Amino acid sequence: MSDGLKLGVNIDHIATLRQARYRTMPEAGNVEPSVVEAARICEEAGADSITVHLRVDRRHIQDADVFALREKVATKLNLEMGNTAEILEIALEVKPDYVCLVPENRQEVTTEGGLDVAGQVGALKATVERLQGIGTEVSLFIDPEAAQIEASAAVGGDMVELHTGAFANAFAAGEGEEELGSLIEGAKQAREVGLQVNAGHGITVGNMGRLCEVPNLVELNIGHHLVSRAMAVGLGEAIREMREAMSQYSS
Ligand code: PXP
Repeated sequence: MSDGLKLGVNIDHIATLRQARYRTMPEAGNVEPSVVEAARICEEAGADSITVHLRVDRRHIQDADVFALREKVATKLNLEMGNTAEILEIALEVKPDYVCLVPENRQEVTTEGGLDVAGQVGALKATVERLQGIGTEVSLFIDPEAAQIEASAAVGGDMVELHTGAFANAFAAGEGEEELGSLIEGAKQAREVGLQVNAGHGITVGNMGRLCEVPNLVELNIGHHLVSRAMAVGLGEAIREMREAMSQYSS
């Protein structure tokens, strides 16, 4: 654990790689790479939590992974999920430390937009209450918009994860001031209504410097960049590089 900005590592793409070869033979003796081993490496290198998204189509993380990680993760287990009855039942059995509720569209390659909390307050409130009832803290993955932040407080969420994807994409194109401004305002508003402020999607060592301008951040969730970078320098080193970039943050 670290005192400053926390790092949650999303290891979905470790499972993406495994599924590319072993989808049809999950019981084979030589299945690799191991998500449990990846989680251990991340934790040893300084991750504060391990995040996985159990998608309805099971394209990467499988049910067995979530149960195995629940056993082995020594830090915190963060389960990302769409608000569907089937996945909710699994979450209630697994009892992750946190759940992050995300939108889920089968066509998308990765989560593309924030959750429309304002448009489904009743359904989300019921899910938030059930999860909190087993001791799981609940986060809502939203775009940094006033209506979504208010709705996240209204459904009883503990945290929001502000969607940084639009900022990351704009930044990569040499822009991003407007998107950064929205994140700054969103982070202020979320804190004012009593929500813990996390952020995630598209975060890299390269855009971290500007992201440091966003106040009140507690935890970042980062996946693709770390798993990609691991191919060049190894997973542990990729985490250490990111932690170094995050160490300049002061809220
Ligand atoms: N946070 C949420 C809610 C996500 O859905 C994802 C993508 O799975 C991430 C963070 C991580 O995004 P990236 O892989 O771009 O770092």
